[in-house]
Amino acid sequence: MLSQKMKDALNKQILMEAQSSQAYLAMGSWSEIQPGLKGVTQFFYRHSDEERMHMLKLIHYVNERGGFAVIPALAQPVLTFVSLKKAFEQLYEHELKVSESINDLVEIALGEKDYATHNFLQWYVMEQMEEERLARDCNDKLELIGDDKSGLYLFDRDIMTMDKA
Ligand code: FEO
Repeated sequence: MLSQKMKDALNKQILMEAQSSQAYLAMGSWSEIQPGLKGVTQFFYRHSDEERMHMLKLIHYVNERGGFAVIPALAQPVLTFVSLKKAFEQLYEHELKVSESINDLVEIALGEKDYATHNFLQWYVMEQMEEERLARDCNDKLELIGDDKSGLYLFDRDIMTMDKA
């Protein structure tokens, strides 16, 4: 059985994952109307789907452990970006915040001696490590590319096969 504190914290995480999904969906919609960013668009949409899956996993967990997963209202995400680099910078910053939030959850689980939740959260800990790495790689590449259009062309092509594995 989850404690009230744990339930509230997990519900907050559900909101965060939903917001992540929405934010990346907005990035996908923005990149879809930019010329030549087919790969990037696919990446953002796929990432948005993954965040929804992260949210759903939490919803099931809370409900299975005797809580009630609250489906939250969402604020409108950022819709436009001055550049692709800025979009990826935001993605990276966002992922850092998610990692921080997962770490806080782990701390609460340990404090409550809730080892089942602690165990459940380990999947998120690993996932965040990978997500941070991927976002950092993208940012590093875009930094190198700068305004070079052929570099951007290759980035868009390569991102289609870049994954967390
Ligand atoms: Fe589910 Fe990228 O945080």
